Amino acid sequence: MAGTVAIFRIPAQITYGCGAVETVGAEAKRLGGARAFVIADPNLQKAGIPDRLMAALQGQGVEARLFVDVEPEPSVPSVATAAAAAKAYGCDVLVGIGGGSALDTAKAAALLTKNPGSLEDYFGIGLVKQRGVPSILIPTTSGTGAEITPNSLFYVPALKEKKAVVSPHTIPDVAIIDPLLTLTVPPGVTAATGMDALSHAVEAYTSVNASSMTDLYALEAIRLIGTHLRTAVANGSDLPAREGMARASYYAGIAIGNAGTNIVHALAYPLQGQHRITHGVANSLLLPYGMEFNALSNLCKFGAVAEALGEPTAGLSPRAAAAKSAEACRLLSLDVGIPQRMSAVGIRHEHIDALVDGAMKMTRLWANNPRQVRPEDARAILEKAL
Ligand SMILES: NC(=O)c1ccc[n+]([C@@H]2O[C@H](COP(=O)([O-])OP(=O)(O)OC[C@H]3O[C@@H](n4cnc5c(N)ncnc54)[C@H](O)[C@@H]3O)[C@@H](O)[C@H]2O)c1
Ligand SMILES: [Fe+2]
Repeated sequence: MAGTVAIFRIPAQITYGCGAVETVGAEAKRLGGARAFVIADPNLQKAGIPDRLMAALQGQGVEARLFVDVEPEPSVPSVATAAAAAKAYGCDVLVGIGGGSALDTAKAAALLTKNPGSLEDYFGIGLVKQRGVPSILIPTTSGTGAEITPNSLFYVPALKEKKAVVSPHTIPDVAIIDPLLTLTVPPGVTAATGMDALSHAVEAYTSVNASSMTDLYALEAIRLIGTHLRTAVANGSDLPAREGMARASYYAGIAIGNAGTNIVHALAYPLQGQHRITHGVANSLLLPYGMEFNALSNLCKFGAVAEALGEPTAGLSPRAAAAKSAEACRLLSLDVGIPQRMSAVGIRHEHIDALVDGAMKMTRLWANNPRQVRPEDARAILEKAL
């Protein structure tokens, strides 16, 4: 890290706190919006959240149209439908509210308002030519940090792969983070999304692109997750735990938005593409194994991860302290009820070849990894995780 140049990008405005969602109308107006297209997670409807959002927009004189057909872990065709509807409405501001699936759908719809062609044209790094209409993203899960990052992820059915659009032009103008919106997230989703945020923080902290700026956010995110995830899963109405996890998720989003993910996400994407395992569960299954492999690259930082997760490390050798970090993640995922082995989610030995091939294609993530991973290394890690 010393002597390298680091770029740090985040949304122009982050509004954080209980009740923050009520500011959406004023923000849309400030961004010059008169016609808002709102992309909302369908499961929020039971809690009446999209209706409140529409009222907050209309109360500021902003017309609004609601779209709730968001697909979980959205496929390219589902996103094309959302983008076409946003265009047909002629929106001048885009609001996304929901988990990563809704926020990524909103990011794609926003970019396609001002960039020609289809979403596939922008798969890759830095291919988006210009910003879409102004956008406001509001997360309702504590996990992806999608409201902060330049990334959005889509399932391509024909390839059985998840593909990414990576562009600073897709960072929203405003992120509104309101912990109250996460109170209704079921325990299983709380656990999986929380482990996704932990993967983000650990991978960014140990990335070759880590900087003093990303380290601040990554380490604090790890500490917050170690303190709050168990409680948030055990008692979803515990507001301090939900608040801690909401902050952890966006801090981890700041960290990956600038330092990237690496080994865990690279190994986990093929589980999502080939076997449709959810993002957070796939990452959680690989997290301890990826950490064990990477630990040699920086024993000191992995020791700090163990400490941030509450493991006593005083008096331990650097190697022993670093080993505690993977063990702490394993215990956390066990406590929050996530499967511990890939075989528990239907993966069998004969699937490993294709998983290795898929993982090795994730070159954009391997570029961030602090230790070289050869195909035989990927295979050994996946076999251990089976
Ligand atoms: N853009 C990024 O930087 C980034 C980072 C990580 C992951 N992702 C992507 O995000 C997607 C996963 O997002 P996710 O983990 O948030 O899951 P999700 O958005 O698919 O949501 C999971 C489930 O929780 C429900 N839900 C969401 N908020 C709720 C609430 N407040 N109350 C009740 N139910 C609620 C949803 O309807 C859904 O059924 C994946 O496609 C992944 O690839 C994106
Ligand atoms: Fe992730």
